[in-house]
Amino acid sequence: MNVMLLGAPGAGKGTQAAKIIEAYGLPHISTGDILRKAVADQTQLGLEAKRYMDAGELVPDEVVIGLVKERLSQPDTDEGFVLDGFPRTVVQADALGDVLTELSKELTAVISVDVDSQALIDRLTARRTCRMCGAIFNVIAQPEVASGVCPTCGGELFQRDDDTVETVTNRLNVYERSTAPLIDYYADKGVLRHVDGNRDVADVWVSVDAALKG
Ligand code: AP5
Repeated sequence: MNVMLLGAPGAGKGTQAAKIIEAYGLPHISTGDILRKAVADQTQLGLEAKRYMDAGELVPDEVVIGLVKERLSQPDTDEGFVLDGFPRTVVQADALGDVLTELSKELTAVISVDVDSQALIDRLTARRTCRMCGAIFNVIAQPEVASGVCPTCGGELFQRDDDTVETVTNRLNVYERSTAPLIDYYADKGVLRHVDGNRDVADVWVSVDAALKG
């Protein structure tokens, strides 16, 4: 099963990706996670990507296309994958189509997680992520995480540098300008399924799972 999650920043792509991975055992390909690791490791890629990410801008297409191309050619993706945060532009979507054709793969489902814009800002500014296990929490819905300790593994929780109100606002503008057109792009290919992401995580997951099975 080759799945893509589409949606605005904070729509819950990472949260639902974790559920797909748990249920179906697919590898998670998150360009945001790959870039954040490069930043933390202070690699050349990380140094280049950081200034775009901190400003809420997109990292240049050729950089992320190269990363995803390399990742999709690894053997653990043979049985399927979950793409999260890629593609984000029509150029990236066209390149993904070419890569999948070269690898004789195709997308099984593109799931658009749709959430109202005020909820996106509230969710992002309240997000906390575990440095150790990568679990995602929300300090308003889960006040216990205000302690800074991951309830799953005991690791340290942190707030992403790009989750400030100012950067979030720019990320949402960038999404509308560059990524939202991909909804029509994939609808035209007949693989798009919409899920109402305004509900709680468990209800959204029921719809995502149904969309994967449908
Ligand atoms: P990336 O890491 O991909 O961030 P994003 O797309 O902005 O998405 P987020 O991770 O912020 O949100 P999400 O939808 O995964 O939501 P989550 O599940 O965490 O990209 C970061 C940056 O990297 C970009 O700005 C860009 O610079 C660069 N980049 C990455 N990919 C790129 C690409 N392809 N091209 C160019 N540049 C790229 O949930 C958010 C919060 O909401 C959490 O607190 C969670 O607990 C909560 N929540 C989730 N679901 C629910 C629910 N149903 N109800 C209530 N709360 C919920």
